[in-house]
Amino acid sequence: MGKQRIFSGIQATGSLHLGNYLGAIRNWVKMQVEYDNYFCVVDLHTITVPQDPQILRANIREVAGFLFAAGIAEENSVVFIQSHVKAHSELAWLLNCITPMGWLQRMIQFKEKSEKQKEDVSVGLYNYPVLQAADILLYDTNLVPVGEDQKQHVELCRDIAQRFNYRYGEIFVLPDVYIPPIGGRVMGLSNPDKKMSKSEEKKDEAIFLLDSPEEIRLKIQRATTDSLREICFDDKRSGINNLLTIYQLLTEKTREQIEEHFVGKSYKDLKEELAEVIIGSLHPIQERYREITEEKGYLDKMLNRGAERAGDYAERKLQMILKHIGLR
Ligand code: AMP
Ligand code: TRP
Repeated sequence: MGKQRIFSGIQATGSLHLGNYLGAIRNWVKMQVEYDNYFCVVDLHTITVPQDPQILRANIREVAGFLFAAGIAEENSVVFIQSHVKAHSELAWLLNCITPMGWLQRMIQFKEKSEKQKEDVSVGLYNYPVLQAADILLYDTNLVPVGEDQKQHVELCRDIAQRFNYRYGEIFVLPDVYIPPIGGRVMGLSNPDKKMSKSEEKKDEAIFLLDSPEEIRLKIQRATTDSLREICFDDKRSGINNLLTIYQLLTEKTREQIEEHFVGKSYKDLKEELAEVIIGSLHPIQERYREITEEKGYLDKMLNRGAERAGDYAERKLQMILKHIGLR
């Protein structure tokens, strides 16, 4: 039997953070050997909200570089830029024509993002999950590893695939979502009741993958905790719980081992240790990232090869879909 296929995507918004790494990228690295993988920098999704062209261009490369730096390897995985494979946009249109508006109106992420933008909201932002479904369905994907916030989008993708198959025949594989048991929702440092995300107002909210040791120490030191003393996992104490969870993810110790380790220690001790653990975990990725970006032509070569491999698969699938619809 052949390997099962994984597809996942990541937007080209600058500065990847620890949430992206622990919720998604790190799992992709770990799972890649067992699966046949496609990892995509979804630049067409990124432009559903306004972007500065020059910054966007740089961010696309930064995110792609990070995937390689984190350990995604060409032997196991195809890494490519979404807009380099035209079939994504084309299939998105075809899927638009069978997706009921009501399904999209229910999407939580659309509601959240459109609230911030009010009347400036683009049609693209509304259609965003349809393009995401096209990404996934083009590659006969079995499994989509993502953070918790993407669960609803993958479920919608399944519904779209089912509706399409019902109308035109068994064309699409129905994908399953994979959310890591721990780390699917890493919380913000200053506001641990919200997920960690890039925030314009609050620079302390997230640890970015390129942060220096000093920045990491300072951000962790400032992270919100509570007025209690005991260091233990407790959902109701979101600040401490989040710090311990990050510690757990990076050290791969059990909760019991961690709680025992911190008996009699202070929040200050925990923060100091956690900062060093994060610094130590990010260091090799940062080194590799520098090597990759300094080697002239390396990234372009990798991405061109990725686009070619992905394009071959996607184009064949698209032709078959066009036939079933009656367009060929
Ligand atoms: P994005 O940058 O929105 O394209 O997200 C890329 C991946 O990171 C997706 O699989 C997200 O679900 C995941 N992700 C983003 N933020 C977090 C977070 N705070 N905790 C866990 N996973 C996250
Ligand atoms: N919407 C996803 C996010 O914001 C990115 C994405 C686009 C994606 N296409 C995808 C994720 C396909 C998984 C599969 O994180």
